[in-house]
Amino acid sequence: MNQTSLHQLLSKNKVSNDLEQCNLRLATNLTLIQKLFFSLYPEEQNREHFQKLLALLPKLFAERSTELKKQDLERLKSGNWYQSQNIVGMQLYVEHFNKDLNGLKKKIPYFKELGINFLHLMPITTRPKGENDGGYAVNDYLEVDKKYGSKDDLLGLTKAFRENGIYLMLDFVVNHTSNEFSWAKKAIKGDKKYQNYYYTFEDYTIPEEFEKTLPEVFPETAPGNFTYIPEMKRWVMTVFNNYQWDLNYTNPEVFLEMLINLVKLADLGVDVVRFDALAFLWKKIGTISQNLPEAHNLIALFRMCLQVVAPGTILLAEAIVAPTDIIKYFGEGEKRGNECEIAYNASLMALLWNSIATKKTQLLYKSLTSVPQKPKDCTWINYIRCHDDIGLGYENQLIQELGLNPEMHRKFLLDYYCQRLDWSPATGMLFMYNPKTGDGRITGSAASLLGLEKAIASTNEKLIEESVAKIIMLHGIALAFGGIPLIYAGDEIGTLNDYSFLNDTTKKGDNRWVNRPMQDWKTISKLDDRALSQSKIFGTLQKLIKLRKENPVFADLNNVGLYHTGNDHILSFERTCKNERLLVICNFDESPQVIDSGWIKKIGYFSKGEPMDLISNTKVELNSGLLEIGPYKMLWLLKA
Ligand code: GLC
Repeated sequence: MNQTSLHQLLSKNKVSNDLEQCNLRLATNLTLIQKLFFSLYPEEQNREHFQKLLALLPKLFAERSTELKKQDLERLKSGNWYQSQNIVGMQLYVEHFNKDLNGLKKKIPYFKELGINFLHLMPITTRPKGENDGGYAVNDYLEVDKKYGSKDDLLGLTKAFRENGIYLMLDFVVNHTSNEFSWAKKAIKGDKKYQNYYYTFEDYTIPEEFEKTLPEVFPETAPGNFTYIPEMKRWVMTVFNNYQWDLNYTNPEVFLEMLINLVKLADLGVDVVRFDALAFLWKKIGTISQNLPEAHNLIALFRMCLQVVAPGTILLAEAIVAPTDIIKYFGEGEKRGNECEIAYNASLMALLWNSIATKKTQLLYKSLTSVPQKPKDCTWINYIRCHDDIGLGYENQLIQELGLNPEMHRKFLLDYYCQRLDWSPATGMLFMYNPKTGDGRITGSAASLLGLEKAIASTNEKLIEESVAKIIMLHGIALAFGGIPLIYAGDEIGTLNDYSFLNDTTKKGDNRWVNRPMQDWKTISKLDDRALSQSKIFGTLQKLIKLRKENPVFADLNNVGLYHTGNDHILSFERTCKNERLLVICNFDESPQVIDSGWIKKIGYFSKGEPMDLISNTKVELNSGLLEIGPYKMLWLLKA
């Protein structure tokens, strides 16, 4: 677009001061928006669509509430709230937590007690009855499912959250809709326009080509990536479950419609939009159709447009892919910092589980140091468990460098966590094992995977204690590493696996439900009893959260550095901020481990007196040349 027509457009829109702000942002982002748009939709055929987009943005902006616009401006002026040490999150299923949205509102005091001020609510929009992938099969992007309440209840909740300083994250299932979504229904009835909103094909020729390289996400329950719809007499691409239809983003109309849905979601008062399964957004024959450059351009395009209309709302990348691929969702090259502001640190999560099973930390060091630094305005979500499975997406080469066979190593991890080794403390389940590839994933709650379920069954106090120490240590790492720590609801009290899903026909095929328990309010009401292991976990996490909030060194300013201690059972990293320095040291072994204290002295931790371990609130004295760290113990050493 030439400058004159841009100015004409901008002056036409100059009806209020507000709008001027939006126009200014559009002017700033325009070059990149245009470039991204035409990189996906060739200019020759898509000029009209681009004009549609330019007209849409101010229109969407006009519809955003004054209150949210004010908040947008405040956020633009202040620092990045999401990098602050004050933010601590929790992820939960509304219906498993306290029935519905109004029930959730009543629990605001519980969040405050623990120190939670960021919530990820699992999908709450309408979905098919029966199987619906926990709501990730969406019937409508904006309509609240009746079981959770109404749209007014949601608005009431977001208002209450704002008043209480709680940030909200909701999902945007951007890759697919359910087969009951209005577009899918029209497509089924034969409407060509909507058949073109999805990848539909009259015969199996093209699907067959795709299948040659497409992996399977749910090989046990949804093998293949296409489903034949007899009423439509066409095949449709269904990469996840057969009731989840992949959206066809090669069609610009789909992008425009989805942008409207995205902005309207932001207009509900959502602070962070979780871009679900975004690695899958672009498909190409001959590839695995994940992490393609076009997917990155599309995400950046969504983000640049959202920035124009609702700059206070940011994006989270749910890209559960290899470490070197995850980092790309922050944007690379001219898109650096222009895709998602936040990404799940799935690498750290998976590596911690590897370290627990092997009792060693070398793979963790190798992997984390092989990834380039993230852009300065971006941050991680650090987590131990979530509603999904744990995938073993480590780089084969790094496993080999440790002298291990990648296939055998993965088999060991599956055996260790999925009840195939008598001596293993873990009680997990094998998820989506694919005999064709030997790949499998792990499900189970943090506490059960870390041995609490077995320890309680054996009434072995020592094992219970050990498991509690592991639960605390892993959460402590997530709290200290840099980024938003996200506690999975129930883990704050060591909730065990929930096997009730086996009695539900719509859930029993998907054992991720084993780690989606009901919030155990009965136990929570007894937390005053300090002897309970649940109280110990809750109380310690509460304390760690408080410590994190009190120390600016925990803010994420790309101020984390890994330290090799010379002991393979130990993980150590340092956080720094202005003159403050804090060293985290964790022992992944069941025996006490020692490290050479000369090393800690050498990096300056004793130059002005003994460092303080914030967790035990004691000074660390080095009487010998060795520092001993107990089994599964963690130190947060603050330099004096
Ligand atoms: C994401 C969700 C997962 C869901 C999938 C398909 O990975 O976390 O639960 O099954 O997307 O929507």
